Amino acid sequence: MGNPQTIWYNKEKNLVETIDQRFLPFQNRVVEIGSLDEARFAITDMIVRGAPLIGVTAAYGMYLAARNFSGDDFYLEMQRAADWLKSSRPTAVNLAFAVDEALSVISDRNTVLENTQLLFDYAENLKEREIEFSKNIGIHGLELIKAISKNKIGEPVQILTHCNAGRLACVELGTATAPIYLAHEAGIPIHVWVDETRPRNQGARLTAWELGEAGIPHTVIPDNAGGHLMQHQMVDLVIVGSDRTTLNGDVANKIGTYLKALAAADNCVPFYAALPSTTIDWNLNDGIAEIPIEQRDGREVWMMEGMLNNEVHEFRILPEKSPVANYGFDVTPARLVTGLITERGVCKATREGILELFPERSLKN
Ligand code: MRU
Repeated sequence: MGNPQTIWYNKEKNLVETIDQRFLPFQNRVVEIGSLDEARFAITDMIVRGAPLIGVTAAYGMYLAARNFSGDDFYLEMQRAADWLKSSRPTAVNLAFAVDEALSVISDRNTVLENTQLLFDYAENLKEREIEFSKNIGIHGLELIKAISKNKIGEPVQILTHCNAGRLACVELGTATAPIYLAHEAGIPIHVWVDETRPRNQGARLTAWELGEAGIPHTVIPDNAGGHLMQHQMVDLVIVGSDRTTLNGDVANKIGTYLKALAAADNCVPFYAALPSTTIDWNLNDGIAEIPIEQRDGREVWMMEGMLNNEVHEFRILPEKSPVANYGFDVTPARLVTGLITERGVCKATREGILELFPERSLKN
């Protein structure tokens, strides 16, 4: 698979490199990012996607903006770079978090060279932090899988996931997939139901690819199959990722997540969201009213991409004149979320539960 990380700095080339997720699973290409605009394009065109990876890419984007700076007002230019990056995708809060934190490490008392080094260090540090967060999410989530497996002698724990909250969405291990990877490593029998995740098919294309590479038993299902499986006791646990989770525990994630949570609640299936603290929006309390939901190009709805005779082709799948709508995310209200799996442990999807794990935030909120 080459580099086990999803994004890395190539010292020889003096460039950032990442896997081009637009071509998976058909082709495994690496793409170079050498400027602010290339970093932004990587985010908007979904070369990179997934909340933590978007954040890390934006942090490298800030570094690249500084490295390529040639004007006379460095600070103003960095502000512009920050705004430019923030306008790329609205829902994942990791993006604004990374850009604002990057801005906070530079100072007008430093030379441009010093500030550039600080921004590079910041991007590398955020990447390492996300790796650590994923590991710890894995460790805490593993306990949930272990507890279920005790009652399933000789049978795999059946986990359903939506979209791709895997290593491709992060740097390593993923969020929703981190407990899955650790359970597999620990020899616990598991099987993953992978929602295809229309319209871009991140489940069918990316999660299935990742799990396949790792040798984890999985089955891709159409998005609407989850409810049926849950009614027939074929799902023990749902784990999804998140793009933004509010302080009261509302979870924004890929469109369709809410319907899975409704089906899980109706069938008493535990529904967890796995997320690092970089995905928590400490300023919001009402996800449905306050989280901006990205609307993407309708082309993603009317067009499907697939392999035919060893070549990637695009196919129109609906009448030319039919209008389409493409909401990228939805919000699952906290009352439908059994718990949040974070790098500090599992908590209730409530303000109290979150602040118990992150008490330093109580002072600010
Ligand atoms: O539009 P995408 O592919 O960026 O959406 C990604 C998701 O919805 C993921 O579930 C989310 O970012 C969590 S990633 C660990």
